[in-house]
Order: sequence, then structure tokens, then C-alpha cells
Amino acid sequence: MDGKPGSVLWFMGLSGSGKTTTARFVAEQLRAQGRRVEMLDGDELRETICKGLGFSREERFENIKRMAYVAKLLSRNGIDVLVSAITPYREMREYLRGQVPGYVEIYVNCPLEECERRDVKGLYAKARRGELNHFTGISDPFEEPAHPDMTIFTASASLRQNGGAVLDWLDRKPRFMKAAP
Ligand code: ADX
Repeated sequence: MDGKPGSVLWFMGLSGSGKTTTARFVAEQLRAQGRRVEMLDGDELRETICKGLGFSREERFENIKRMAYVAKLLSRNGIDVLVSAITPYREMREYLRGQVPGYVEIYVNCPLEECERRDVKGLYAKARRGELNHFTGISDPFEEPAHPDMTIFTASASLRQNGGAVLDWLDRKPRFMKAAP
């Protein structure tokens, strides 16, 4: 290990937008470059250290804070952390930018209609039927990131293109790979 802290690549966007898929792709490439990498996925953490948290504004904030805490522990030990979580509110991103060294905000942009068409988990249909409250994009807001470090468009570009764009961006911004808190 070279003693440098890792980056925290925070993929945010609607459910079904492709956050986890893109993060996995990037993680594999970073590993292939010899970096130590860990992934924190919203769906997974909600089964473990965030179990029991719901989807009110306060609970989502608590969810994000716990993810940020773990991300910090890992990144300060030189691990690149790839987080995928909806992260729907601007206030959360301000919190992350202020609290998480090496934070990189990546907006995974995909139109609601496309996420709903994919409906991988069947949750949009449920939300439309009124069986899920506070569902992001339907009955709860997703506030567009105002100043993301980068935006990828998963409806119009391929996984390879988007993953490549993230990796290129990191190459061009080495200060984020090396940033000391
Ligand atoms: S966040 O808002 O706190 O960042 P997170 O990414 O951890 O959300 O979890 C979102 C996942 O929880 C979705 O991908 C979906 O599978 C599931 N989910 C269940 N209920 C909801 C809801 N009301 N709103 C959004 N996602 C929900």
C-alpha cells in the first residue's frame, strides 16, 4: 500500500438507473489496475447495517450517513469505495461533500420513463398502484444534482462507454485519487 487515501465514487440516481451496474463495471476495472476496491450498495446495506431504516427523509438521511461513515473508514485506508444509493436530496450531497474526503459525485442520469419501463424489481408498478409510499420519482422527489463532478447517461450510452468515461475522468483528475483529507 502506498499510504494514499482512496476515492469515494458516489453513484446517485433513480432506482433502476444503472448505479450498481456501472459501479460494478468501474470496480472491476480499478481492481484490474491493482487498486483495492470496495462497493457499498444501498440495497445491500439496507439488509445489514441499515436494516430497519425506511424511506422518510430522516431515515434516508440516516442511511446515507451510515454509508458515508463506512466509506470514510475504508477510503482513509487506501481503498477506493464505490457507493450506489439513490441519495435523492441536495442536502445529502452537501453533507457528503463536506464530510467525505475524496468524494466524487457521479449523477447516473436516466429518465424516469426509462427506469419505469425497465422496472427490474417491479417496484415502480407497485408504487403506481399506491402500494409503496414515498417512492422516489413517483411519490417522493429526486432533486437533480446541481453540481455533480460528472454525469453519465445510461439510456443513451453503453455500460462500457459510461464506465470508460468515469475511469477517464479519474485519470484526468488524479488529485481525487490522491486527495489527503
Ligand atoms: S436512499 O434514498 O436512502 O439513498 P437507497 O439507495 O438506500 O435509497 O435504497 C433504494 C432502494 O430501496 C431502491 O433501489 C429500491 O430497491 C428500494 N426501495 C424500497 N422502497 C423504496 C422507496 N419508497 N423509494 C425508493 N426506493 C425504495
